[in-house]
Amino acid sequence: MHKLSGYFLATAVSFAALPLAADTKPAQPNDFIEVFAKLFGEHKGIRKGHAKGVCAVGDFTASAEATARFDAALFSGATLPVTYRFSMAGGNPNVPDYARAPRGLAAQFNLPDGSKHNIATLTTPVFGAKDPENFLGLLQASVPGADGKPDMAKVQAFRTAHPDTQPQAQWLAVNPPPWSYTTAEYFGIHTFYLADKSGENIKIRWHLQPKDGIKGLTDAEVVQQNANFLNDRLNQRLKDGMVEFDWIISLGEASDSENDPSVQWPARPTLNAGTLRIKASGDASCNNINFDPNVLSRGFTASDDPVLRMRSPAYAISFGKRLSGQ
Ligand code: HEM
Repeated sequence: MHKLSGYFLATAVSFAALPLAADTKPAQPNDFIEVFAKLFGEHKGIRKGHAKGVCAVGDFTASAEATARFDAALFSGATLPVTYRFSMAGGNPNVPDYARAPRGLAAQFNLPDGSKHNIATLTTPVFGAKDPENFLGLLQASVPGADGKPDMAKVQAFRTAHPDTQPQAQWLAVNPPPWSYTTAEYFGIHTFYLADKSGENIKIRWHLQPKDGIKGLTDAEVVQQNANFLNDRLNQRLKDGMVEFDWIISLGEASDSENDPSVQWPARPTLNAGTLRIKASGDASCNNINFDPNVLSRGFTASDDPVLRMRSPAYAISFGKRLSGQ
């Protein structure tokens, strides 16, 4: 309870410091829950974002390089049990698996002292807006009118007036949807800080690289796939053994953005921080987890990216609603 109040407080403080245009009201966490309902309909008892997904279980072991370099509980070198969830973006639990939308991979690492560390990533290297206000504005512009269709001229006008809402859409337009949940890269997107052994906080971003390689659907496959092939393909793949992702950390430089998730960093020196393993899927282990990405273990610190800060209170509302059948 105390922790939750802390997230709300941090969010309020960060908004106080944000330079918003004079006519822009600070976005509130519940604004997102309301606009998701307008966009995707009301679906009681399930996630208001990334409504369609599947749980999986496995573990994580840090690399010797990460253990030697960083002072982080996650990178002790011990093998940690992990609960995963693969998902489709958006609040529609029936979205077809071939949709040109981001996929998500969330993971909750269970540390030996009982603490948790969460990540919740997307297949796009950037997010859909630089701050909560522009993300909310884009969603609101996309709400269908009386004819059941969004006004595309309105959406386009919003994107033109807010260029930070363009890079993710451009990325989705030119990159095919993943062939499988296991053949996509997943990006942390936000900037975090990671303590090294000398006590310095290193500016990082990271992505998960699939050992199965990156493979997208062909244009023909996009139209021929059934609507639920991702779960089938994951189950099938796991019959041949575990699925692995390398956790690739990029080491930031002074000029790299610390708080704008719509901007990708230039290529930077990287290191492989360890391997995430997925051993089985389809159980209920992730159903009652809130993969709040600000739940971090010792050694990691969140940046003041306003989108990252907004995620905690928005996820908490969604979590509370779905646990109580709303
Ligand atoms: C202001 C921006 C955002 C809002 C309002 C938002 C909102 C939400 C909500 C309400 C949920 C459902 C939470 C639950 O019921 O447990 C969710 C899930 C998720 N979001 Fe976001 N999100 C935002 C930004 C992001 C970003 C930047 C990423 C990736 C870097 C992301 C990745 C995910 C993933 C992977 C899930 C599914 C987690 C799971 O499987 O339980 N979201 N989001």
